[in-house]
Amino acid sequence: MTLQTKADKWNKIYEGSEHDAVHAAKVLEENLHLLPISGNALDLACGLGGNAILLAQQGLETSAWDISRIAIDKLQAYSENLSIPIQLEARDVTVTPPTANSFDIIVVTRFLDRTLIPHLIDALREGGLIFYQAFIKDKTGDTGPKNPDYRLAENELLSLFQALQIICYREEGTVGDLKRGFRNEAMLIARKG
Ligand SMILES: C[S@@+](CC[C@H](N)C(=O)[O-])C[C@H]1O[C@@H](n2cnc3c(N)ncnc32)[C@H](O)[C@@H]1O
Repeated sequence: MTLQTKADKWNKIYEGSEHDAVHAAKVLEENLHLLPISGNALDLACGLGGNAILLAQQGLETSAWDISRIAIDKLQAYSENLSIPIQLEARDVTVTPPTANSFDIIVVTRFLDRTLIPHLIDALREGGLIFYQAFIKDKTGDTGPKNPDYRLAENELLSLFQALQIICYREEGTVGDLKRGFRNEAMLIARKG
């Protein structure tokens, strides 16, 4: 898929979406106590920016990047309206990933590009944290990408981030009562240094 087609695909999806329905991902929402009191944070492939809004509300200097100009424009209007400061950029992160040692916190949810992981690790400052949540192959429902390449294999986040200190990992797969729990996704929080 060319870069333009990739952006077009997401632009079309965001054209029809309302901003009010947006929430931060569980990996961030349930672990706010791990955030530093100050520092800078990046919501990468932010979509409508549920994570970015929460990060900025925690007092972090927040950036949010996404390939979709429409998503970024909607997030800009929403955050300006509520006076929530977020530095926004329409950016293809596979072409222009974050630079080395540039963020204290990086949050990536429901976006999986394995070639980007070494760049994310480099982009963390010493002591910095990555919050990652993505769909898994061992699913219990139809949410998430149909192409299995965009889903994580068992424990894959642990290997992708093995260079970091694991702070939290959760992957329930198809174990136990499938009507309850954290299903279809895995979450990881890891620390550099
Ligand atoms: C499933 S959405 C997830 C959005 C948000 N992180 C969330 O959890 O709600 C995937 C996002 O990745 C963005 N995206 C896809 N490819 C991208 C790329 N190469 N660079 C930046 N963003 C990209 C899409 O525009 C879309 O907003």
